[in-house]
Amino acid sequence: MSNKKKVMIKTYGCQMNEYDSQQMLSDLEGLDYLKTEDQQEADLILLNTCHIREKAAEKVYSELGRIKTLKEKNRNLKIGVTGCVAQAESTEIFKRQPAVDFVIGPQAYHKFPKIINELKKGKKELIETSFEAKEKFKKLKKGKTEAKSSAFITIQEGCDKFCTFCVVPYTRGKEVSRKKEDIVSEAETLVKKNVKEVILLGQNVNSYSSNGETLASLIEALSEIEKIERIRFMTSHPNDMTDELITIFGTNKKLMPFLHLPVQSGSDKILKLMNRKHTIKDYKQIISKLRNARDDICFSSDFIVGFPGETESDFEETLSLCEHVEFSQAYSFNYSSRPGTTASGREEIEDFKKKERLLRLQKLLETKQKAFLRNQLGKTVKVLFEKRGKNPNEYIGRSDYFYPVAVESNYEIIGEIKNVKVESCLKHSVKGCLLG
Ligand code: SAH
Ligand code: SF4
Ligand code: F3S
Repeated sequence: MSNKKKVMIKTYGCQMNEYDSQQMLSDLEGLDYLKTEDQQEADLILLNTCHIREKAAEKVYSELGRIKTLKEKNRNLKIGVTGCVAQAESTEIFKRQPAVDFVIGPQAYHKFPKIINELKKGKKELIETSFEAKEKFKKLKKGKTEAKSSAFITIQEGCDKFCTFCVVPYTRGKEVSRKKEDIVSEAETLVKKNVKEVILLGQNVNSYSSNGETLASLIEALSEIEKIERIRFMTSHPNDMTDELITIFGTNKKLMPFLHLPVQSGSDKILKLMNRKHTIKDYKQIISKLRNARDDICFSSDFIVGFPGETESDFEETLSLCEHVEFSQAYSFNYSSRPGTTASGREEIEDFKKKERLLRLQKLLETKQKAFLRNQLGKTVKVLFEKRGKNPNEYIGRSDYFYPVAVESNYEIIGEIKNVKVESCLKHSVKGCLLG
């Protein structure tokens, strides 16, 4: 019997948090913890949290309310809150939920050894929320993520844009980029584990800048690693879509023809109130340049519906932008006022209006997604298989255009790129058959 302690991590929010959770797990392995999925046997439970909308943050407190009862059975259980709620609410968390033992902000995970040591000494209400992204980057374990065919690599953190609705500049701090050599060496370690696709992550990934390197030059460097077959990046801001970056969509064969480029609203008036610093004309121009560079490229976006000041006609401009761009997929949310952001004091529009508009937008986006997927019927697409599906012999992967594809196969195909003929479409994915 191993007498190692067990840790369970529950992750909320964006891919950056998923990447961080993997990193925390490998750090904790070094501190003699084993990973568990079963909270009943855990000695340490971490909630890696998200603060982006009110609902996301409130979920954390209801989960804390549930897991605190586990302390009655296991008196040694420690509970930690990490991620963006940790940063935003810091000591408030202990007041709202005294069962929490420690709080660590997203740029302070390299402080884990210190925290664990202090917990052992019986200390309570420990807190680390300094912004030390550079220190955190230095301590990142190279390619320590679990072996998968597709892997995330964080290349940049933080945001200097200050959109008026958004907490990220406050929870993740200033923009900081990782060194190119460290990223390339992490990618080299990942390919040894059969990773074929890397997804470069950053809150503003296309503002990446390190010793004269840009996101475009970094992608070119990564594509020289022979075993990397696909490269993607997210999330981009329209203002950082340089011509250099647009051009490589046409010239770099490993860069996939799919781009998540959030626009938030189709109205110039609302974009201004959001401090997005670009117009709809600018956005359309970027889309058209990208289509010129690579004609099969497709797009995804995020939308906020019901931002303070949004009129029916502003909202209709969002609908008409969706008609124009024909997004292959998109995420849309009702505006949620966040403490500390510039927009938080502004008069909000009525809830029922917000909800009604969101439904209309989602219906339109769904129609566009369906049309996009229907257009794939009969085509042969390349799919990187990532996991098993629910049915026996079913495997799931993603096409170059990022939509999920399911096939049946009598032999194991995880980690392989195969040609698939698309035969039928579901709501957000397709089914097909393996060719050759
Ligand atoms: N850095 C990325 C996205 C960050 S957050 C970008 O600039 O696009 C992910 C998405 O959450 C945003 O694109 C936005 O659509 C949504 N979001 C952020 N703050 C929000 C808020 N206060 N209410 C509703 N949605 C929000
Ligand atoms: Fe938030 Fe805007 Fe920064 Fe994106 S660019 S993380 S939406 S402040
Ligand atoms: Fe949420 Fe923080 Fe990501 S607020 S979306 S976990 S950067």
